[in-house]
Amino acid sequence: MPELALLDHDAVLAAVSPEAAIEATRDAFLRHHAGEWAMPPKVYLDSPPYGDFRAMPARGGDLALLKWVTSFPGNPAHGLPTVSGVVCLSDARTGVPLAILDARAVTALRTGAVAAVAALALARKDARTVGIVGCGLHGAWTGRCLAAAGYQDGVCFDPRAEAAAALAAELGGWAVGDLPAALACDIVCCITPGSTIVVERDDLRPGQHLNMLGADGSGKAEASIDAVVACELFCDEWEQASHSGELAGAVAAGRVVREQVTSLGAVLAGDGAGRSGPGATTLFDSTGLAIQDLGVAAAALRAAQAGAVEAGRITL
Ligand SMILES: NC(=O)c1ccc[n+]([C@@H]2O[C@H](COP(=O)([O-])OP(=O)(O)OC[C@H]3O[C@@H](n4cnc5c(N)ncnc54)[C@H](O)[C@@H]3O)[C@@H](O)[C@H]2O)c1
Repeated sequence: MPELALLDHDAVLAAVSPEAAIEATRDAFLRHHAGEWAMPPKVYLDSPPYGDFRAMPARGGDLALLKWVTSFPGNPAHGLPTVSGVVCLSDARTGVPLAILDARAVTALRTGAVAAVAALALARKDARTVGIVGCGLHGAWTGRCLAAAGYQDGVCFDPRAEAAAALAAELGGWAVGDLPAALACDIVCCITPGSTIVVERDDLRPGQHLNMLGADGSGKAEASIDAVVACELFCDEWEQASHSGELAGAVAAGRVVREQVTSLGAVLAGDGAGRSGPGATTLFDSTGLAIQDLGVAAAALRAAQAGAVEAGRITL
């Protein structure tokens, strides 16, 4: 009978620090780019009129992962989270299931971590300040991961002033500011619901780097098409980014083609060019990949196996 480790929300966060999540995420992009890790496209299963399920598989090293996660926008009205789900890790050599993890914690860590990986790879080397636009669950983890990556000075903006204040206080040395103040930073991370444009062409500054994280589904956008096309463009994965990411609007309008967009994995591996120079404005489109989940979930399982964190057990 297979015995599985069970890592709940707090166990995942205790097992993997933001620093470890950044390292695991960077490694995941490199291994996927090198062809060592496999990632079939994610599958959407609609559940009208309530929301949808997403099945996200990946395989790498000795592990295979399936994230079974949701988006049910009406849930908060019933006191339930919009996003919930589980990550299942199996032994890739035998197929035997090894662990079940809380998908919310894995997703939060890997989403914040990729913002740090992209900033370290694509922002100017002398970039210092970080603007967080949207200080909800994933905005907060983005701030934590950028702080862990060494960015000690930033501006938090959210129409919910209490969310911005709480994040700024937690990060220490960061300030609460308005949208223009956040958009004036060296690195701008947008992590809003994607229902309103927050970055216009005139907001862009030479030398700036933008991480666009909120637009992870069709119809969502945080930057205007004019703003997108004015930037040097990077993405986590072209198929997802061009169909359901920040790039989708510009691609549909025929204003961005694949040749203009470099994958983060290629930049990290040195196979693709990063920013062209200190005056360029760079934009990274994050849609969220199963390889990121695999990197973070594998790190959590290793920590549990090493006894660094307490995991529950389930026998099937
Ligand atoms: N790229 C990825 O890998 C990835 C991963 C997880 C979530 N997401 C997406 O990120 C977005 C945010 O998710 P979340 O779980 O943090 O949601 P959340 O509801 O916890 O936070 C969203 C925050 O944005 C704020 N906000 C709303 N409109 C704003 C505006 N115009 N300007 C600034 N802030 C604004 C809200 O007040 C809220 O605090 C969603 O669209 C989600 O689908 C992307």
